[in-house]
Amino acid sequence: MIPFNVPYVPEISKQYALEALESDYQQGDGPFTTKASKSVSDLVGGGHILLTPSCTHALEMASMLASIGPGDEVILPSFTFTSAATAVTKFGATPVFVDIEMQTKGIDANQVREAITPRTRAISWVNYAGVAPDIEALQSIAKEFNLLLIEDNAHGLGGSYKGKPLGSFGDFATQSFHATKNIQCGEGGALVINNVKYIDRAEVIREKGTNRSRFIRGEVQKYEWVDQGSSYLLAEVLSAILYGQLLEFSRIQNDRLGSWNAYSNYFMDSYNLKFNEMQVAHMFFIELQTEKERARVIDELKSAEVYSSFHYSSLADSKFSDYMGFPKSLTPISSEFSKTILRLPLWFGMGPENVTSVLNALEKVQPQTI
Ligand SMILES: Cc1ncc(COP(=O)(O)O)c(C=O)c1O
Repeated sequence: MIPFNVPYVPEISKQYALEALESDYQQGDGPFTTKASKSVSDLVGGGHILLTPSCTHALEMASMLASIGPGDEVILPSFTFTSAATAVTKFGATPVFVDIEMQTKGIDANQVREAITPRTRAISWVNYAGVAPDIEALQSIAKEFNLLLIEDNAHGLGGSYKGKPLGSFGDFATQSFHATKNIQCGEGGALVINNVKYIDRAEVIREKGTNRSRFIRGEVQKYEWVDQGSSYLLAEVLSAILYGQLLEFSRIQNDRLGSWNAYSNYFMDSYNLKFNEMQVAHMFFIELQTEKERARVIDELKSAEVYSSFHYSSLADSKFSDYMGFPKSLTPISSEFSKTILRLPLWFGMGPENVTSVLNALEKVQPQTI
């Protein structure tokens, strides 16, 4: 049986988890959080890191920091995870869906420009599969219209765009350490703050609206309620697991890249996301001709005990978006891609034998790719 994903837990993570559990410090922002935050910061180009219970929470923090509320609009790609949209709707604002580019599968900057209204507050995009869209164009639109940039880098830790680390481009970027990600602690995330003027308020929002972070640093004598907030800290035991993973970052990436390259070499003539940037080997996908064909391939692979997967449904086509009547541009590329993408198994320690077994099973199934 070849699973779709197998979360990796290095020995060092187990040791650190035990150390955290046996210590007197179990809540958030302890010694392991400090170390893990520094490692994440190094990988994303030096931004200020606040570890969170998930990427979803980090996206919500970004909305709060951007003071996004009723009457405001945020432009999003239709092909992304629901959390990017719920982080907008949770605060009463309106998501405006635009299409993705054929090549990068990321947000189409031309459509972003067309979707701007006087109510637009931010552009939120995802570096899908660790590949950036045209970030330079997004930056210039943001400058022209005075908008904030929210970079969902859940897939892209260690990746790059024009030689600079992914996660360094948005005013806010977000990371996920969910069990399905390259670096994982079960559930976890990070907010990366690249625009320093938001750091103080972010600390307050994350600490239930209090200035507790300043109190811990000895800057105030007692902490009190000063702003909006919630509880967005990652418990120390999860930070300990995360730190162990981060110490093995290169090993994890290289191992995954071995499997990714093997897939990529095999599908040489098919479409692949291959750019002159750092490949993060988070996922490998192919595109089939129709949704029906994809269902057939998933089923037949499953009969051969190989587990493959679809990915996001296009948000503009969702029941909830229809129900709410959210505005949308035409998003045919997102609709088509969400129906035809097929993700292949990819995990640390998969090894060449398992990759060969997946490819052999695929050969028998004869997928009709585009
Ligand atoms: C692009 C993207 N953003 C955000 C998330 C949500 O991450 P989390 O589960 O850490 O909240 C996911 C989940 O897979 C994702 O793919």
